[in-house]
Parts: sequence; structure tokens; C-alpha cells
Amino acid sequence: MKTLQSRLTNATFHGLIQIPGDKSISHRAAILASIAQGTSTISGFLESEDCLATIAVLQKLGITIEHPEHGVFVIQGRGGFFSEPSGTLDCKNSGTTMRLLAGLLAAQPFSTTLIGDDSLSNRPMRRVMEPLSAMGAILHATGIKETPPLTIQGRKLQPIDYRLPISSAQVKSAIILAALVTPGTTTIMEPTACRDHTERMLTSFQGSCSSLLDQKERCILSVTGPQKLQACSFHVPGDLSSAAFWIVAAAARPGSNLMLENIGINPTRMGIISILERMGAKISIKTPSCPQIEPCGDITISGASLKGTVICGQEISNVIDELPILAIAGALAHGTTIIRDAQELRIKETDRITALVHNLRLMGANVKEYEDGLEIEGGVSLHGTKLPSYGDHRIAMAFAIAGLFACGETIIEDAQCINTSYPNFEEMLDLLTISRS
Ligand code: S3P
Repeated sequence: MKTLQSRLTNATFHGLIQIPGDKSISHRAAILASIAQGTSTISGFLESEDCLATIAVLQKLGITIEHPEHGVFVIQGRGGFFSEPSGTLDCKNSGTTMRLLAGLLAAQPFSTTLIGDDSLSNRPMRRVMEPLSAMGAILHATGIKETPPLTIQGRKLQPIDYRLPISSAQVKSAIILAALVTPGTTTIMEPTACRDHTERMLTSFQGSCSSLLDQKERCILSVTGPQKLQACSFHVPGDLSSAAFWIVAAAARPGSNLMLENIGINPTRMGIISILERMGAKISIKTPSCPQIEPCGDITISGASLKGTVICGQEISNVIDELPILAIAGALAHGTTIIRDAQELRIKETDRITALVHNLRLMGANVKEYEDGLEIEGGVSLHGTKLPSYGDHRIAMAFAIAGLFACGETIIEDAQCINTSYPNFEEMLDLLTISRS
């Protein structure tokens, strides 16, 4: 079992950090390339365990994928045709792989079974089963509480008008992928806007998905199928969710000046920036002059003294993956930080509310737990200790950053889970340590 150490430093954080490719965009780039006609080249692809699980599953479905150099994958799309795989398809720790592929496989003329590791085997699949069954596919989640393994018997699908009961980009994308091969128009109503990478990236592959706002400002998406996607060259920008760890470290240490280059700044992911600015962080973003389908920019963070804030309501889906590091920002800020309406955190790679409350308390913070969030009394000095990662990459990285502000040494147990999304995180943590000394 790998452990990760981080220890208190009073130094400031300076320099330039390169951030690996965006996880959500990498998954989608591989999937869209596999259903397009022709050969796509994806660069900047995140070579983490999650995204490589998507690559391996697509290969098992008969897609030829070459890997000429680090971060580059050349994918021979088969226009929506896949081969029946022998055996199960292993999505490892990746909910995005399982839920998006469920949409893809719902229209295939064969049956497949998707499996995952212990964590994924505990995550709910009803959310994708319901709309895909309404479209005509036959899905069974054979685990207790409709959890994986997930068996999908593909069928000829029919369009649906679906109101998402929860704000989930994975569910929305599964329906979009199924709708692309379904004759007729499928509509999806989102309760609050969540990441829109699938919709945007479809344009790069010459597909389309239109959106409009109803009188209550809710977004309604329409996908008319069948669509024939075309191969393209696609570059994946740096992942703002991975950048968030360094952004918080620099933002919370007055005197720091850190720059992160070529980071995805899609508006549906930018909550982390506006929340930190509300907390007093000094952040500036430089964008290139030509518009991009997936916008990106260079982010500079100057350290400041942070103050607590309230994060709730519609803002939650925009920062769902950043809530662990925002809870750490709250612990480092003056005043109280309250996170509510975030019950989805309980069904991520682990129950992130329990993990945050437990580990923050072990470090000496005063924390209140709610069913849908937590309340952190900031400004209390933290102390280093041994902390479980709960096998969750974002919990492990969030507490490695907390360790830079805590007296003594912080040891994160079971830290290999970081490879899920950020394989060279430890190297970057060391680099920051070296550049400090
Ligand atoms: C993701 C959507 C989010 C997010 C996950 C990646 C995606 O999950 O938490 O890390 O790539 O679509 P939900 O759809 O469950 O909100």
C-alpha cells in the first residue's frame, strides 16, 4: 500500500505548473472518436487509470487504437459499429466510463456486462438505467441496490423527452450518446446546468445538439438522430479539477504567485474560481483571442488571506469534484465555510462527506456534518497525522494539500488511488517542495 507524505511549509508557492489533460474531456474524446467515421487524433489525453479504462473497453469492443507517443491516441472510428466483446468490460474505478458507455451500448445488437472495482461496484446505476430503458434497451444492475455489474441488452431505440431528476453530466451524456443513433428527436431537461463537454465536443466531430432555456431558465437539450460523426484532431486542455489543488494551495498562502498554463475554463466548470474569489483569492485568467470549442486559458494565482463562504444550491453541480479541496480552503480560511445541497458527494468514489469530516477532525478542525454537506470552522491550526484516503483520489490529494499547512507530517495512506486522475501528482508536490526550499 503506497503512502504519500506532505509536511508543513511556511514558504510561498511560485512558478509554473503543467497540468495533465482534462479527465471528462479525455473520456469523451475517445468515445466520440470511436463512433465517428475515420481516424481521429487525440492529443493532451489524460493517461490516468480512469481514462485508460475507457481506451481498454473501446479496444475490447473492436476499436483499433494506436498510442504513438505520451498523451496521443489515434483512434479508428467505426461509425457507431462495435464488435460483441468476449467476457465482461472492466470500467475499473471510473463511473464516467460505465455510465457513458451504457448509453453507447444501449443501441448495439448484442448484450454486454460492465463491471468495476469495489468502489464502482457500490455506485448507483438506476440513474442511467431509467432513461435508457425508456428508450427501449434492457438493463439490469445485478448488485444490491441496483449497483454494478451492469448488463445491457442493446435494442433499436426510440426517442424520449426526459427530465433529469438529478444534475448529472454522466447521465445527460449517456442519453445524448444513445440519442445520436436513435431516429427522431430526444430532449433532455436539466434541473441545473452541469458540465457540457459532450454537447460542445459533438461540434468538433460534426455532430449537433441544440439547447434552449425555458421560462424557468432550465436548459432543454435536443438531439436529433441518427447522426454521422466525422473524425477530427482534438486537443484536450489541462484539467481545472486537477489544477484546483494547486490553485487552493497558492490562494491560501499570502505572497505566493503560481501560474498554470492551458487549463480548461469551460463556464460549467468555473465555480471553483468564483468561489475562491469570493473567499478573497486573487486570480487572473489570460485567454487566447480566437474562440475555442472547449475554452482554455492561463491561470495566475496570488496568495491572500481567505475568508469563509457558503456554497450551496445551483452552484454545487458546477463544483461537484472540487468540493473536497474547497473544504480544505474553508479550513484554511478565517470564519465559517458551509457546504450544503451536496448529497451527491455521498455517492462519489467514496462517501466524500464522511471522509472530509473524519479527516478534518483528525487534523484538529472543528467540523459539523450534515446529511447534504458540512460546516467547517476555519482558521483553527491543523496538525499533521496519518489519514485514510478512502481509496478516493480527490480525498487523497485534498489532504496532501492540507498537509502543506499543518504542523508536522501528514501521511496519506492508500495513496495509489491518485493514479485515477493525476498520475504525477506526487512529483508535482515534490517539485513545489523543492522550489520552496
Ligand atoms: C463527470 C461528471 C460528474 C463528475 C465526474 C465526471 C463527467 O459526475 O463528478 O467526476 O465526466 O461527466 P456526475 O455526472 O455523477 O455528477
